[in-house]
Order: sequence, then structure tokens, then C-alpha cells
Amino acid sequence: MIQAVAWKGDFLQLIDQTQLPEKLIYLDLHTVEEVFQAIRDLQVRGAPAIGIAAAYGLCLGMRDFRGASRKDFLAQLQQRIEYLSSARPTAVNLSWALRNLQSQLENLPGGDAAELKTRLLALAIELHEDDRRRCEAIAAHGQEAVPENARILTHCNTGALATGGIGTALGVVYRAHQLGKNIRVYAGETRPVLQGARLTAWELLAAKIPAQLICDNMAAALMQQGQVDLVLVGADRIAADGSAANKIGTYSLAVLAHYHRLPFYVAAPLSTFDMNVATGSAIPIEIRNSDEIRKVFGKYPITPGEVSCWNPAFDVTPPELITGIITERGILSPPYSKTIEQTINHTMLAGG
Ligand code: MRU
Repeated sequence: MIQAVAWKGDFLQLIDQTQLPEKLIYLDLHTVEEVFQAIRDLQVRGAPAIGIAAAYGLCLGMRDFRGASRKDFLAQLQQRIEYLSSARPTAVNLSWALRNLQSQLENLPGGDAAELKTRLLALAIELHEDDRRRCEAIAAHGQEAVPENARILTHCNTGALATGGIGTALGVVYRAHQLGKNIRVYAGETRPVLQGARLTAWELLAAKIPAQLICDNMAAALMQQGQVDLVLVGADRIAADGSAANKIGTYSLAVLAHYHRLPFYVAAPLSTFDMNVATGSAIPIEIRNSDEIRKVFGKYPITPGEVSCWNPAFDVTPPELITGIITERGILSPPYSKTIEQTINHTMLAGG
């Protein structure tokens, strides 16, 4: 299995996703600043993967802490968390991972700075392993949504490259294929950064899963011709009412699925849910550099000079367009405000 993020004893190793599929290059990162930049530049991307990378980045950022004071250690930790959280605004997994480590450290009874440092790394490794398990559970629960012979349309990249395990939406696909369900995948190319064309196509080819790539503007025709049985996507942040922010273009697919009466599923771990955000309109949407649109993959200019562009990296699909949200705790159904709250409360009570 592809490992997008790996802790190598005293540094963080990432697959540089900006180089795929042309080159498989591993990056060795030794400082918190390098991790921040790798997240910002999409060398590591996908909501769970950036949370895991940031957790290791925090360990690198605390490695140079020299004092013995617990109080000073926790103050520097807070600064590094604020810094890393600002790398990208939409995927809540980033701040969730960092706050998760912070609260566990703060709740440790006693312990000087040296102990906190050791504990921090152990917690980051555990968080990584925890994401792997969540992916496995999502893949298992998701099977209920995938019939035999299903033709599945997906968007962006939600596989091993985007997580600490086999993926979320693509994890469901991997499992369905392993179970011999005879599935076929349509991968949307995902303009402007082409995560579908470069990354999902790469993963599906490597796994020998029957797949075809389409340009984003071909999805409507594909559905009109009866070639799609369900749409399956990931998420970067899910509000308390079930609104799901995901890669730009996801909302169009949800509208299309609704028109063609096709099921539209979102797959995401509970670390992607943000109970502090009541509705989709409150989810912060990252606006990225216009050059992503002006040049194909930042390299080949395709527009007249400095043409003005609007480049939001994500959009929000409203809950009424979502058939079900596949989580590690099962598939949530509408009304989401109720089912999400019940699931989160139950998980917290169970210590999850
Ligand atoms: O900008 P990206 O490539 O980080 O966007 C990724 C997505 O939108 C994914 O669908 C989402 O993070 C879920 S990944 C399991």
C-alpha cells in the first residue's frame, strides 16, 4: 500500500504529490517550517493526510525546545499549533489533529518538558495509526452503499495518498474491488490541480481497478447516458447540519446526481466533522492562486496573460443533496443534525 506520510525515526517523509504521476519523489522534512510549506504547496494534501503531517510537524517544531518548564513547553506548543493550523483553512482535520495532541498533553498529570516531548511523538504516531483504522472501518461500512457491478463516479483524490490508510471514498472502492464486486470507477479529472487525473488515476491503475478518466464537464453526459450508479466523494469539513465542504466541483456532481436520481454519498472520518460550525455557509473556503487556473499544473500557460480568475479550492454540498455520510461508525442518514450529534456524542462517551 502507498504510504503518503511516514515518520522515519527523526524526520518526516512524504511523497511529493505535486510530482505525481510523472515522478515518484520522496521528500525528507526536518523542520516545522518545511512541513508548513509542504502542506501549503499541496506536496501533501487530502484532509486526513494533512492532519497527520501537521502532527509530525508539531513534533519537529518542539524538538528544539530547550527548557525544562512544562508551562513554557505548552506555550511554545500553542504557538506552533497556531502556525501549522494556518497552512490551509478548509480541512478541519488539520486543526483537529493538532488540538487533539494538545489536549492530551495538557491532560497528562505532571511531566516535565522532556517527558512531554517524548509523549508528543507517541501521540502523533498513535493518531496516524488511528486514521488507518478509521479508513478500514469506513471501507467496511461503505459496502452497504455499493451494489455488485456498481459504476461509481468519484472526484478529487480520497485514497491512500490522502489519508493514513487506504482512503475514505476510495477506500470504499478498494474494498468493493477486493470483495469481487465487479465495480468500475469514473474519476473526474478535478480542475484546476488535477488530483483526479494525476493521483486517483495513478492509484486505481496501481490497484488494477477498472477505471476511466473523464474531464469534469463530462459528468452530466455520463449520467444522462445511464453510465453512473452512484457518486462517492470525500470531505474536508462537515458542518453540524451535514453540509459537506469538499474539492471544488463536488457540489456540481451532487446537483447532477439529484437531477438524475442517483445516490450521492460522502465518506469521511469523524475527525472531519466540525460541531463548532452550524451550517455550510460558515465553513471557511480556501481561495488559491490564480496561476493554478492560468497555467496547467503551474507550468504551461493556457490563458491570455494576467486574466483575472476566481479560484476557490472547495465548495459546499448542502445536506439535502447527500444520500448518506459514510463514517467509521456506520452510514449516517438524514436528518443529519440529529444523526451527527448522536454519533459524535456516543463516540465521545465511548472515549473515541
Ligand atoms: O486540495 P486537496 O487536494 O487537499 O483537496 C482534497 C479533497 O478535497 C478530498 O476530497 C478530501 O480532503 C478528502 S481526502 C480523504
